[in-house]
Amino acid sequence: MHLRRANPVGVGVGGVSTLPTRSTEQETATGIVLEARNVTKRFRSGGGFGKGHDVVAVDDVSLAIKAGETFGLVGESGSGKTTLGRLLLRLEEPTLGSIHFEGADITHLHGKALRNVRPGMQMVFQDPFTSLNPSLTVGQAIGEPLRVVRGLCGAAVGTEITRLLDVVGLSASSQSRLPKEFSGGQRQRVGLARALSLRPRLLILDEPTSALDVSVQAQILNLLRDLQREMALTYILISHDLAVVSYICDRVGVMRRGQLLEVAKRDHFVTSPSHDYSRALRDAVPEIGRPLIEGQAVA
Ligand SMILES: Nc1ncnc2c1ncn2[C@@H]1O[C@H](COP(=O)(O)OP(=O)(O)O)[C@@H](O)[C@H]1O
Ligand SMILES: [Mg+2]
Repeated sequence: MHLRRANPVGVGVGGVSTLPTRSTEQETATGIVLEARNVTKRFRSGGGFGKGHDVVAVDDVSLAIKAGETFGLVGESGSGKTTLGRLLLRLEEPTLGSIHFEGADITHLHGKALRNVRPGMQMVFQDPFTSLNPSLTVGQAIGEPLRVVRGLCGAAVGTEITRLLDVVGLSASSQSRLPKEFSGGQRQRVGLARALSLRPRLLILDEPTSALDVSVQAQILNLLRDLQREMALTYILISHDLAVVSYICDRVGVMRRGQLLEVAKRDHFVTSPSHDYSRALRDAVPEIGRPLIEGQAVA
């Protein structure tokens, strides 16, 4: 994987960071945007009529996301990353615990009250193709939230669509095309434009580059970093790929079987994760022996 070889962020070897951390740019934004307090989510599964058993998808997780940071959520498949993301956005309601967005308790909001907070936080999926209506052009797909949620009308809609497409690196002519006419990387740009159309402060990106070729992955990750800087966005990036997480995240949270085992600064996680499982996860790169980051051998 090229991201590992290229050492693209200039992370120092052996824990000495040569990285120009983005924290200096974020000094003014030290507040907590999103917080989970002792959040648990149980699902009933495996049969009807009371025969099922409970799956604890998220187990007593507490987490505070700071304004302007990129928080990476890693863990093996089934560890609860997506469920936690959906709980944080209140796409699911927690079984126990509470969720706070920009200081407000949103744990049990419904209907209009929930719709009012939704634009502030958006989710971007692995392949936005699945969330884009195949029969709507990109212009229609982006125009809909502009009209319905932001209340734009007339020429203002077209102007804003063109601006959003430009922001994510797509031409104005893209708006007349259907999702199937785009490549994977372009579709991820469309998905981002649609998410940004609601002017969110926080994006949860669930495996945003996992379906993409490596070179395209880097383009999308760089775009995400540029957008974050320009728009003062906060990111939660869910990924099973530690190269992606090392590339872009400020802090990393490790999930296992629904629990948040460890939260560490990125450099610390890469060089000396404190938990055995975090170490195992870090070392479980597919290319045995290849440096995770230039100059740093994988055990
Ligand atoms: N709607 C659901 N109903 C029942 N079980 C679910 C549901 N969503 C997730 N789960 C279970 O919760 C656990 C965590 O899943 P998920 O959050 O998708 O993990 P990850 O994103 O880390 O792969 C898994 O065991 C999964 O099967
Ligand atoms: Mg998932």
